[in-house]
Amino acid sequence: MKKTRRHFIKNTALATGALALQPIPIFTQGLPSKQINVAVMGVRSRGLVLAENFAQMPDTRITHVCDVDQRYLEKAIGAVAKLQKQTPAGEKDIRKILENKEVDAVVMATPDHWHAPGAIMAVKAGKHVYLEKPCSHNPQEGELLIEAEKKYNRLIQMGNQRRSWDNINRCMDELRGGLIGKVYFAKGWYANDRKPIGFGKVAPVPDYLDWDLWQGPAPRVDYRDNLHPYNWHWFWHWGTGEALNNGTHEIDVMRWGMGVDYPSRVVASGGRYHYDDDWEFPDTMTINYDFEDGRSICWEQRSCNSYSSEGDGRGVIFYGEKGTVVVQGNGYKVYNNQRPIELAQEIKQPPQAQDSSTNTASPDASLDGVHIKNFLDGIRTGNKISSPIDEGHKSILMCQLGNIAWKTGRVLHIDQRNGRIIGDPEAMAHWGRGYEPGWEPTV
Ligand SMILES: NC(=O)c1ccc[n+]([C@@H]2O[C@H](COP(=O)([O-])OP(=O)(O)OC[C@H]3O[C@@H](n4cnc5c(N)ncnc54)[C@H](O)[C@@H]3O)[C@@H](O)[C@H]2O)c1
Repeated sequence: MKKTRRHFIKNTALATGALALQPIPIFTQGLPSKQINVAVMGVRSRGLVLAENFAQMPDTRITHVCDVDQRYLEKAIGAVAKLQKQTPAGEKDIRKILENKEVDAVVMATPDHWHAPGAIMAVKAGKHVYLEKPCSHNPQEGELLIEAEKKYNRLIQMGNQRRSWDNINRCMDELRGGLIGKVYFAKGWYANDRKPIGFGKVAPVPDYLDWDLWQGPAPRVDYRDNLHPYNWHWFWHWGTGEALNNGTHEIDVMRWGMGVDYPSRVVASGGRYHYDDDWEFPDTMTINYDFEDGRSICWEQRSCNSYSSEGDGRGVIFYGEKGTVVVQGNGYKVYNNQRPIELAQEIKQPPQAQDSSTNTASPDASLDGVHIKNFLDGIRTGNKISSPIDEGHKSILMCQLGNIAWKTGRVLHIDQRNGRIIGDPEAMAHWGRGYEPGWEPTV
């Protein structure tokens, strides 16, 4: 197995556990003391898993948990208190937590419409941010995030945890080093059996919920009884559909393995085929991306039919001149290009890791942990984090372009300098969104 310089550095650092190889920290101003104080925002499902994981990291303390739903707030306080010495404070308004100088980092696991506006508020307040995927609700917010990260010199790590997985890193290095020659096509997929969400009705806001804060940056609408929790994913006003909810992971891996930034052409097709309900995004969709140098990527999502491909509900296949690489979880298989096609190499996912598409809150806590550790190390040492927001934005933009192509029914042509849509004002109208007055994100 070819050893890259990157692996050598990573493995040596792991073996020695030493600071000797690490560069001088870039965050000399405001560098937290050895212990990192963390606040977690949005703690019902993914946020609870992250809070529990952060609480178990060395020299890390959850000082605050934040949720606008009193039920999840109380549950998270209790869960975190069992894992660390200190019981975290509970607060429903993130703005109050951001005023607290003791908080070094904020983890954001709210609905998507809060992600970029909340992260921008946090870096402005001097906090580092672990920002769940997708980093933004729309492309304009992604551009603002990059600006904010640079201006306020804070880290924003996106929660596409595969970026920190050792075998995926090794696979990406090898692919780019010519393992299967020129990689000219990649296909990624996700399959699940999500149930219908019905037709919601306007209803009184439950007494445990602050609906105004839940909406935050999004223009105000009446509370309906089929949005919170979780089903907001399937409404354009707050969510981003399966292309970003799960496509983020595989589309990011495909973009990474092929070493591309922006597609030149994007086409999408699909629909809400399986059920008749309020769900606004396609439950079944393919997105095709062409690149200027004559290569392409295909994404297939099935939210309501979990029939697997390659024995798995999710994965990526890279096709090249000399062979094929199948990536599943934190492992991969390499096939040659002869007849009969044979398995040439298999890097197995470590046995403790159970990456699956069925547990949507956390496919695997140990694999979440390496991404969290990478973020915390970045704060402590100034080392480059594995998913900085400029790279995260490019992958999320690809997913967003797919949604825009589907919504408008258009073939999108993309400016190679910045990822923007060329010559189509109707499609570009989806580049940003309107905000509730007073909540517009500004850098
Ligand atoms: N990286 C991954 O593998 C992964 C896995 C699952 C979810 N996620 C991401 O995590 C995010 C949350 O997803 P989920 O499934 O946990 O959603 P969810 O609806 O179950 O939970 C969201 C929580 O945020 C709370 N919330 C809403 N507005 C808030 C506010 N202003 N302040 C504080 N709390 C607020 C809600 O009350 C709820 O408790 C999504 O963006 C999703 O894409 C990532």
